[in-house]
Amino acid sequence: MTTRVGPVSLPNPVMTASGTAGHGAELGAYLDLSQLGAVVVKSLSVEPWAGNPAPRLLPAAAGMLNSVGLQNPGIDAWLADDIPALASAGARVVVSVWGRSVGDYAEVGRRLTTALVRSRGPVVALEANISCPNVEDRERMFAHSTEATSAALSALAGAVAPLGLPIWAKLSPNVTDLVAIAGAALAGGAGGLTLVNTLMGLAIDPASGLPRLGGGGGGLSGPALHPIAVRAVYDCRQAFPSASIVGVGGVSGGYDAAELLSAGADAVQVGTASFVDPRAPLRVLAELTEWCAAEGFGSVAEVVGTSHRREATRTPNGQNEVARAGAAGKRAP
Ligand code: FUM
Repeated sequence: MTTRVGPVSLPNPVMTASGTAGHGAELGAYLDLSQLGAVVVKSLSVEPWAGNPAPRLLPAAAGMLNSVGLQNPGIDAWLADDIPALASAGARVVVSVWGRSVGDYAEVGRRLTTALVRSRGPVVALEANISCPNVEDRERMFAHSTEATSAALSALAGAVAPLGLPIWAKLSPNVTDLVAIAGAALAGGAGGLTLVNTLMGLAIDPASGLPRLGGGGGGLSGPALHPIAVRAVYDCRQAFPSASIVGVGGVSGGYDAAELLSAGADAVQVGTASFVDPRAPLRVLAELTEWCAAEGFGSVAEVVGTSHRREATRTPNGQNEVARAGAAGKRAP
């Protein structure tokens, strides 16, 4: 079940999704964090951030709306308080960071570099969250424009260059042309893409006319988001055959994970499912392992990008001529 996300080797392709498993080793109360591909921590900023007023979570018909508002203890406190517990748990750690300005991305990167330049400890990659819908000025979300995406990634990449860690840009599905934004992220210095963050939503109490979440709108995640994530991964894999891609969105079981891998993801993240069952990431891994064996896939690499190899074998009338082209070989580098 090993996989590679660019230069990062993981024992398996199932990680937690940022924002759904705490900042540190909180989920370790329920599962052995060393058994996951990696733990992606909730996004961290330069200064501590209180987030949005309650209520912050609301069940939706096929998922969940959240308006947490990026609450976090700040990068310095996280480095002091959370990283040791993650290291002791044997977790591989992906550090998610966010900022309200390009300068914030540079500064959070500088602080990480100062702390980790001698030893990266358990950190294997960084994730640049440029796509949270729960900030006060949604119109200025970095991932809504190619220029802002490129600027944020360049600032972070410049600051963390001495660490030699890849940066995955976490992008928003709330855009007209995701492939263009992904291209800007890669050109700006991202080594990979995390696809996708939540869809912007709103729940209203019809009697009062007031929003039901304390922050107003929220981000929709869970099963409703899954086909959107599959499409995002598929389109970006087609456009960028050699980019590292991590798929996230409504992964509730092993089949969902396999679908994202087939669309071209090198690994997947489990988020909203952990709110129902904190052990969900390891259950997804067990189901994915079983699925691979049942379907005759000998490795994760054989599953990655299967749907693109099938596309290549389509006849002009759209019929697939082979049952599975995936086993025929790995994706071209
Ligand atoms: O509100 C939040 O903390 C959500 C963050 C995100 O979707 O990136």
